[in-house]
Amino acid sequence: MTDKKATLTVDGLDESIELPVYSGTLGPDVIDVTALTGKGYFTYDPGFMSTASCDSAITYIDGGKGILLHRGYAIDDLAEKSNYLETCYLLLHGELPSKAEYDEFVEIITTHSMVNESISRFIKGFNYDAHPMAMMCGVVGALSAFYHDSLDINNPRHRIISAHRLIAKIPTIAAMCYKHSKGEPFMYPQNNMSYSENFLHMMFGTPCSAPDVNPVLARAMDKIFLLHADHEQNASTSTVRLAGSSGANPFACIAAGIATLWGPAHGGANEAVLNMLEHIGDVSNIDKFVAKAKDKDDPFRLMGFGHRVYKNFDPRAKVMKETCDEVLTELGITDDPLLNIAKRLEEIALSDEYFIEKKLYPNVDFYSGIIMKAIGIPTDMFTVIFATGRTVGWIAHWHEMITQGYRIGRPRQLYTGEVKRDLTPIDSRKSHETSF
Ligand code: SDX
Repeated sequence: MTDKKATLTVDGLDESIELPVYSGTLGPDVIDVTALTGKGYFTYDPGFMSTASCDSAITYIDGGKGILLHRGYAIDDLAEKSNYLETCYLLLHGELPSKAEYDEFVEIITTHSMVNESISRFIKGFNYDAHPMAMMCGVVGALSAFYHDSLDINNPRHRIISAHRLIAKIPTIAAMCYKHSKGEPFMYPQNNMSYSENFLHMMFGTPCSAPDVNPVLARAMDKIFLLHADHEQNASTSTVRLAGSSGANPFACIAAGIATLWGPAHGGANEAVLNMLEHIGDVSNIDKFVAKAKDKDDPFRLMGFGHRVYKNFDPRAKVMKETCDEVLTELGITDDPLLNIAKRLEEIALSDEYFIEKKLYPNVDFYSGIIMKAIGIPTDMFTVIFATGRTVGWIAHWHEMITQGYRIGRPRQLYTGEVKRDLTPIDSRKSHETSF
């Protein structure tokens, strides 16, 4: 327990309220406010700017210093020395695997990468022009209809089977959504390929030609998945935890995370970055758009800039920028117009007083889209790629919550509506202006 405490005095209360203060291994202490309800108060924190929703040992972020640790390992170390599946094992189990553990994990994921053949018919039921994220939400949410033999969330064996199935099958489903939108045949995963090589094969391979994946692009894809793997209690991970706290099955919880990630303020930002760069069109237009981003009366924001937690460089953006240069060099793209706009935009924003004062730096989404575009991935698939990489993080948090013991998440509110009133008969009611 703790010997630290916070003492709260409230106007109108005779006695002050003592609240326990807890310390973690890193980061700010937290004040336990659960006693406030018994004193007739709620805390008030819209957007959860100052709220720790749980204990977690998975990922630590120091936004001021631009530090991101997964189970204590720095993201740039993992990006340089590890790979996506090894990082998945680390996030799920808390330690890097031994060689034998790694080989067994890769074998399990590889041999579970096919999906039930009925899912092919499920995806073919969508219009060809359905947004891939709409298909992902639908298909992942429906996976419990296909894999209902391991849905007891209190059974550790069921939890790990569902975790393996989701990590193994999400890239296959993602590639199938893309192929459906292209009107091309689905490609089956190849067991002799690595995770990211397999994904690019399922995306761009065809039955008419032998598999041919560029190893530099496969390594870049692996880094993109790794850099997106987890990020503490972000909006989509918090959604997965909240859905999981009701006892919902893991596939439904992950589908809720996918739906949340889709928003342009969150994982949809990578798609929005590319659309923004294409809308800017030329470096000569940058100043006009930077001015729009600074104008309080203009809803335009520089997509790919700013972060709730990072008030310094997002460490993932630095690695993403290096990967971007590697991919463009490998592909012989030396003068990419969108990359030129992105680099000039970054220079201008980082020297502009508004962005400096508000601590707005490029985030993980700023360069990822340029890499994916160079690889040949269409813009509407960018958030699908993000969801594919983030699935392991969502599962790790879902699993941590269940094994820690949990209660259903049920926030309260500051009520600002009408006090009790009686119904007026309809013939006596006046019309009102309504807005929605
Ligand atoms: C991700 O949480 C995570 O960890 C998410 C993520 C993950 O891995 O899960 O890291 C992934 O979602 C990255 C963020 C991707 N989103 C974008 O790039 C969209 C553009 N960025 C913003 O919309 C914004 O910066 C957020 C949503 C990311 C953060 O919003 P906050 O913390 O609520 O900050 P805010 O909106 O209150 O902004 C603070 C100030 C405001 O000005 P004032 O009202 O104080 O005068 O900064 C301004 C904002 O107007 N501002 C921007 C801006 N972002 C914030 N101004 C111009 N351009 C921007 N991009």
